[in-house]
Amino acid sequence: MLLAIETSCDETAAALIDISRPTDAYDRCEDFLLAHLVRSQVELHQPYGGVVPELAAREHLAALPVLVGQLLRDAGVALNDVSAVAATSGPGLKGCLLVGMAYARGIAFSRRLPFLPVNHLEGHLCSGDLAVRDERPELPMLALLVSGGHTELHRVAAPRSYELISRTLDDAVGEAFDKCATVLRLPYPGGPALSKLAESGTAGCYELPRGVDDDDASFSFSGVKTAVFRLHASLGERVTADPQCRADLAAAIEETLVDSLITKTERAIERHPVRTLLVCGGVAANRRLRQRAQEAAVRWGVRLVVPELRWCSDNAAMIGVAASRRIHLAPGGLASFPHDSSAVCPARARWPLEQLDAA
Ligand code: KG4
Ligand code: ZN
Repeated sequence: MLLAIETSCDETAAALIDISRPTDAYDRCEDFLLAHLVRSQVELHQPYGGVVPELAAREHLAALPVLVGQLLRDAGVALNDVSAVAATSGPGLKGCLLVGMAYARGIAFSRRLPFLPVNHLEGHLCSGDLAVRDERPELPMLALLVSGGHTELHRVAAPRSYELISRTLDDAVGEAFDKCATVLRLPYPGGPALSKLAESGTAGCYELPRGVDDDDASFSFSGVKTAVFRLHASLGERVTADPQCRADLAAAIEETLVDSLITKTERAIERHPVRTLLVCGGVAANRRLRQRAQEAAVRWGVRLVVPELRWCSDNAAMIGVAASRRIHLAPGGLASFPHDSSAVCPARARWPLEQLDAA
């Protein structure tokens, strides 16, 4: 079995997965996922209105041994039963990645086990495989990855073959949700609160800019945030005194952000036909996004896969699935990976999927 560790941002996560067969050989994730745990740091960062990297790294360090101890007890196995270790090596907060990698590599080194560095984005793109067999993505698929740190669209024609279609030029869409929510004085993290407020609003009441509408290779969300800031200031007293005005503004923000994601996703499906549309990452929790993605899937006759919420936010199960895939695609299986994990292995703050196998 393989121990997978995820510490790229503000969630400490660990999972234990059976790698004796590829994960898609099993009917349900419960059949290969022996145990998994996630410890969120959201309360720690709440007073600062955002993730403080140094605090996050220190918290990962304190949490990991406890979490992994619990994980092994939950699965009823000993560390001796583990035959490989994987950890997210980027992209993410460097200090956080270093903690997770050092911990994982320490275990691998002391037991002479292979260590597999995993790309966090690839992990998210593997999260569809945690669904039951009949609801998993079929290739080719278009994957819309939307989170607090990333907004990108990839076409996946074959396992581990990722073609970038669009990426954000500035903020990630989750970041845009959070920043706009701060303008509306909603609690951190603002995305879910803004979305809740939007339910009682009318999106058409306010017009907001849709960044780089004519460039299918890019998303841009920083203009929305600036426009919301200005609009909010110009509404003055009204927005604080009138709850409907606030709700309308929230609905306009949500609609603008979701519309720009869906418009580019549909244009991509039109240009490169696919069988599946995967929507993954923390923002996939957004109801309006799910609704619009469902409508788009029906329009283009593709299967929509939105993983369960626990697999949309950061977790180690998806990191384990990505590692397992790599093992089973390697000609010699696990034996192709060196058992000497003392080799240099960098933590990468930036690690685009196009450079997946770069040293
Ligand atoms: O993937 P995730 O849990 O963490 C990382 O970014 O790595 O995503 C968190 C992001 C936050 O920006 C949060 O505000 C946003 O996802 N989010 C939402 C919703 N739920 C979470 N944004 C809009 N609507 C939601 N319902
Ligand atoms: Zn993530």
